[in-house]
Amino acid sequence: MIPQDIIRCKRDGGTLSATQIEDFIGGLVSGAVSEGQAAAFAMAIFFRGMIARETAALTTAMSESGLRLSWSLNGPVLDKHSTGGVGDHISLILAPAVAACGGFVPMISGRGLGHTGGTLDKLDSIVGYETQPSTDLFQSVVRDIGCAIIGQTSDLAPADRKLYAIRDVTATVESIPLITASILSKKLAAGLDGLVMDVKTGSGAFMPTLPEAQALAQSLATVAREAGLVTTSVLTDMDQPLASSAGNALEVLHAIAHLRGEACEPRVQEVVVELGAQMLLLGRLAPNLTSARSKIEAALTSGAAAERFAQMVVALGGPADLMERAQQILPTAPVMMPVPASRSAYVAGFNTRALGMVVVALGGGRMRPQDKIDHAVGLSKCVEAGTFVHKGDPLCFVHARSMSQAQEACVTLQSAITLGDEASAPTQMVKQIFAA
Ligand code: URA
Repeated sequence: MIPQDIIRCKRDGGTLSATQIEDFIGGLVSGAVSEGQAAAFAMAIFFRGMIARETAALTTAMSESGLRLSWSLNGPVLDKHSTGGVGDHISLILAPAVAACGGFVPMISGRGLGHTGGTLDKLDSIVGYETQPSTDLFQSVVRDIGCAIIGQTSDLAPADRKLYAIRDVTATVESIPLITASILSKKLAAGLDGLVMDVKTGSGAFMPTLPEAQALAQSLATVAREAGLVTTSVLTDMDQPLASSAGNALEVLHAIAHLRGEACEPRVQEVVVELGAQMLLLGRLAPNLTSARSKIEAALTSGAAAERFAQMVVALGGPADLMERAQQILPTAPVMMPVPASRSAYVAGFNTRALGMVVVALGGGRMRPQDKIDHAVGLSKCVEAGTFVHKGDPLCFVHARSMSQAQEACVTLQSAITLGDEASAPTQMVKQIFAA
């Protein structure tokens, strides 16, 4: 294999054979392909795209780059994956809720990508929590507790782990074939019975328009079907941060408050319930959607989901008192600064991507693959679209390492949150469902 020939073929708009793709991905994992070559390959795919056959071959090659898990459990093996957003910590609430309803959720999550936060980085803000456990530990936590949320280990889809880190910092994320292969390679390696895809659309999504998000959902459905993985896609809103917090530790805090019933934001609750209900349907754990929704709601209100989350944290090495002492245990930033509204008006809209990039610039995401994350920084108490604010009211709070970083973030945020004279209609969270 000559990597530059494969890159050249794609750069010039050619169609790659399955063998070329397998060779390139094999070389990425073995080290025969350099990071620079992988970045050029990703950029060629970004501009030239891939036909369905190539995307399927890329997905297969990446999923076969490591172990493929198999399970023998007394319930369905289910998972959910989001295409990425801002303030999206649904996984932290959803996985334990589905586990409490009888599903088994081996969730292999990713680091932050571009402007979006990653579940893996969020969990890394919990001291002691092992996000890269051995495969044996991962499997035993799923078997005993019902869910384990981890990052990619060196055993599971290592090709995606490498390519993901390169795409993050080379502006090659927003590509339907690359997103499809990245997500499905991890999910196929996890040996699932059913997958629910949360395909985001709006200014904080990789596919901002509805037609683009629909095309991504279609690509995911086609490749998953060919690989024999039953998948339902739910298109959900990402035109504003999903929760009022964005940033690693801040989102863990928020998820714990939601699980404990202390701060159930309606938009977060709606997405958790809809995605959870679709997972229960795929796993035949409920006879219909109404009953599936009620089961997820009950898992949350009864505290059963919170209990599973606490057990998962302990089983993976985290603190036993995290649920009760999250405020004290999770890292906090030294500076907290309000972002004042410049006039009295309605919150009309968000450049959600810009909000995500503020978190990255504060240190909550990476500029280079090797960068260390600052888990404490981010945004909290972000207003929702449609809220009326008086001049000087906080639009959100910035959590930063220094005053100068906070002030810089403040200026960007004031221009990323649009104020208007009229109240906008409430957002529809679930835009479309493509059932399996
Ligand atoms: N999530 C992933 O795992 N990969 C992508 O490329 C985008 C979102």
